[in-house]
Amino acid sequence: MDREDALDSVRANVENENLVKHMLATEAIMRALAKRLGEDEEEWGLTGLLHDIDVELTEDDMSTHSKLGADLARELGAGEEMAHAILCHNEAHSVPRETKLDKALFCADPLTGLIIAGALVRPDKKLAGLEAKSVRKRFKEKSFAAGANREQISLCSELGLELDEFIELGLEAMKGIAPSLGL
Ligand SMILES: [Fe+2]
Repeated sequence: MDREDALDSVRANVENENLVKHMLATEAIMRALAKRLGEDEEEWGLTGLLHDIDVELTEDDMSTHSKLGADLARELGAGEEMAHAILCHNEAHSVPRETKLDKALFCADPLTGLIIAGALVRPDKKLAGLEAKSVRKRFKEKSFAAGANREQISLCSELGLELDEFIELGLEAMKGIAPSLGL
């Protein structure tokens, strides 16, 4: 699968620029996780990039969210591992997370929101000056970016990563694409 084709397809299916940015951020974290864990960076990155491709198409019926996404990813050339990770990132389907890729996508997804919120409360609204320790502090404030599911982020433990390392890795990955995120 070609990354440009994947991104074109995301843009063709998702109008909301913030949702596209969420997928770019997830891609960046997934690439960093793959590198850290010695996995396939391209496969993991593309899984992150495509994981919510159906989000606007399924907004009236979230029970279909990620089922359609897995199908769209297959049409783009995704293998079964990638399609499975996309499918099971929506717990509504009760499809258990089995592979490392499944687990990585599940915990990376909400981390993006916590980090973006952390940048947006800064005076300059930029990622550059945001420190991991401040994201860690925000992690403990339940009302801050409440949509970023803390339990889900903590499942980085299933990949053998401590929360501190995961936050640091995610933050550095997102800093690396800050201009694309408008941050
Ligand atoms: Fe997502």
